[in-house]
Amino acid sequence: MKLATRPAGAPLLGELTPPGDKSISHRALIFACLAQGPSRVRGLLESEDVRATARACGQLGMSMRREGDEWLLEGVGARGLQPPAGPLDMGNSGTAMRLLAGVLAAQPFASELIGDASLSRRPMRRIVAPLEQMGACIETAEGGTPPLRITGNPGLRGIDYESPVASAQVKSCLLLAGLYASGHTSLREPLKSRDHTEKMLPAFGVPLVGDCGVRGGSRLTGASLRVPADISSAAFFLVAAALVPGSDLLLRDVGLNETRDGIVHALQAMGADLEVRNRRLFGGEPVGDLRIRYAGRLHGVDIPVDRVPAMIDELPVILALAATAEGTTRLRGAAELRVKESDRLAVMGRGLRALGVRLDEYDDGMDVHGGPLGAKLDGAGGSVAVDGSGDHRCAMSFCVLGQVAAGPLLVAGCENIDTSYPGFVADLTTVGGCIAADVDRCRR
Ligand code: S3P
Repeated sequence: MKLATRPAGAPLLGELTPPGDKSISHRALIFACLAQGPSRVRGLLESEDVRATARACGQLGMSMRREGDEWLLEGVGARGLQPPAGPLDMGNSGTAMRLLAGVLAAQPFASELIGDASLSRRPMRRIVAPLEQMGACIETAEGGTPPLRITGNPGLRGIDYESPVASAQVKSCLLLAGLYASGHTSLREPLKSRDHTEKMLPAFGVPLVGDCGVRGGSRLTGASLRVPADISSAAFFLVAAALVPGSDLLLRDVGLNETRDGIVHALQAMGADLEVRNRRLFGGEPVGDLRIRYAGRLHGVDIPVDRVPAMIDELPVILALAATAEGTTRLRGAAELRVKESDRLAVMGRGLRALGVRLDEYDDGMDVHGGPLGAKLDGAGGSVAVDGSGDHRCAMSFCVLGQVAAGPLLVAGCENIDTSYPGFVADLTTVGGCIAADVDRCRR
């Protein structure tokens, strides 16, 4: 699926509440499914990825219905899951697959997790290896990729795992398996990854052991939650406003968990006029309103390696922004980008080069030498200039960059934007962006 953009030509203005946080939405559904008693969730993201988790929880016995702006979820209890009638399809979602694998590894029944072409290329050894140490029995395709055929073993043993990667999916998978295991399960990681699981477990009545551990046999009880707006979706509007002269946007209720707020610091370090207002908590999760005003051309920065996990999903759009900044932006320590929904370093590198951006690609990062965009843009009718390669975040990053390109831009490979941000085109249009299914329709 393609989208077309034109240069915005006028400021982006207005207010927006971006859609609910994807990571928190997955966890809310899974924890509610494992809980005894009803849970209520406000602000749940209704996107393709989260639907995959909701469908799987339904196949395992949870029921859910909407009541006004809340979802009412009836869990079955951690020991009450029913064997699914067929394979559980996780679509494009690595989070859904890796978290549910932790639950399913401990069940007294077999199950199979499958996914789309992108998910079927993603590495699963990172969860299978530690789950096997706990006593799980999981078969993968050759190369350690999905599908996952899980035998199910209700007799898992707790472990203290030293993870080689900073990954909240690995961490959350093990903590979920640990709820069923004997003794304690805990995890250490090279850098701290997002901690939504650790923040949400106590809300469901499960105390953490230390910073990142659980005791086997802990019971979950239903909870009431409000999901913050997703900073990873807000990121596209932060960057759009930083790019388009005269822009002034207010983004409300945005999650500002300190393990996710790297983009706020990166933008401020690049010289953006970005202000955080009205800081407060939704349950255990920090939120705030973000006001961003165009502040002229930004400057390149060295992204601190230890902050990479805190902006891992925002790096594609930060690289897009860097393409227009004064000087060089250096990113290292981000090899994980190569195993996301696409190889994001390769996809962003190809697209930015096609736009005439000078850059050097490395195994674990990129140097982007900022400059004016558009050398290779075909202004006459918008030929296909870049390809999001079916990766939602790369596709949206190019659409945002198109707001300041030299002419119309066609962005191919946009079909998966709905996995995280179904209202993206409508929201960008609402604040004054120029984007549509074809170039003739994208006018202000
Ligand atoms: C996620 C963790 C991150 C992130 C992904 C969502 C989560 O992946 O990139 O979009 O919800 O736990 P890793 O755990 O692989 O770093």
